[in-house]
Amino acid sequence: MLVDQFQRQITYLRLSVTDRCDLRCSYCMPEAMKFLPKREVLSLEELHGLALGFIDRGIRKIRITGGEPLVRRDVIELIQALGRKLGDGLDELTLTTNGTQLAQHAVALAGAGVRRINVSLDTLDREKFAMLSRRDRLPHVLAGIAAAKAAGLAVKINAVALKGINEHELPDLIEWAHGEGHDVTLIEVMPLGEIEGDRVDHYLPLPAVQDALEERWTLSPTDYRTGGPARYFDVAETGGRLGLITPLTNNFCAGCNRIRVTTTGQLYPCLGGGERVDLRAAMRSGDPDAALATALDEAMLIKPERHHFAISERGADPAQPRHMSVTGG
Ligand code: 5AD
Ligand code: SF4
Repeated sequence: MLVDQFQRQITYLRLSVTDRCDLRCSYCMPEAMKFLPKREVLSLEELHGLALGFIDRGIRKIRITGGEPLVRRDVIELIQALGRKLGDGLDELTLTTNGTQLAQHAVALAGAGVRRINVSLDTLDREKFAMLSRRDRLPHVLAGIAAAKAAGLAVKINAVALKGINEHELPDLIEWAHGEGHDVTLIEVMPLGEIEGDRVDHYLPLPAVQDALEERWTLSPTDYRTGGPARYFDVAETGGRLGLITPLTNNFCAGCNRIRVTTTGQLYPCLGGGERVDLRAAMRSGDPDAALATALDEAMLIKPERHHFAISERGADPAQPRHMSVTGG
């Protein structure tokens, strides 16, 4: 089993299948983002083999991430293969997507055994969406969300709270999502990777958002959990659930249960840290089973106690040079 030196049991793997994306959200990456050369990326078979190895070591939940996972052509095959492990070592298989291509894949995802997905959506305003993501794709995303709902998938909307961008629209976004039967989670922007602007300009601490929402609605804390860092509230007036993910204002690392693997097989035990073990090298060595076991033990030894995110100083370097799109969020 995977237990780190702070006695945290690691049961959740976030597996990135590509660092590429068909959007260019300005808080996430620069317009001219450089992606990894394709030859460095693990094959479908390698990703599958890795995931099976993790299940053997006690991973019970796998989330497929990107970049945007659905831009990788063979991702559905991987999801179908991993779906066969559900009930046989794996409790849950999920996906985080930007939704642009969800309409084409929703039925296949449900068929593979996926029950819940997260869709990233920061605004319902088409022009704002086009400005923020540098692509005019809001209609595709909304069609994708509708297709997921029709296919019977539970959809959670993830929105990054951004000062001066979607700040004043958050109540409308939440009301819309709850009306559609979707939970919503708000996320604080994190200092990961260089972007064109300065994240100081748009960082919005969620306690302030919560205060503003409480002037309008009745929020009651619940002990509902999805195995992640979000704290959930029931919103009496909308009848929906609202999650808050507060990496900056309220550190939740003590309860961390996760590790991340990039599409080149680099295991990062912490989203906010530089610690890393190379699973691709282990997998391609003379004795892959032994090398992988050693690599996972090493990962448990180097997983840091917590991240040290801050967004306060103008012009400061990001906490990590690695973009969220490389580690999969
Ligand atoms: N800080 C916070 N969230 C981010 N995302 C991408 N980059 C960042 C960042 N720097 C979000 C996306 C998506 C999820 C995978 O991560 O909007 O919801
Ligand atoms: Fe793509 Fe997600 Fe980054 Fe937006 S936030 S550019 S959708 S990886």
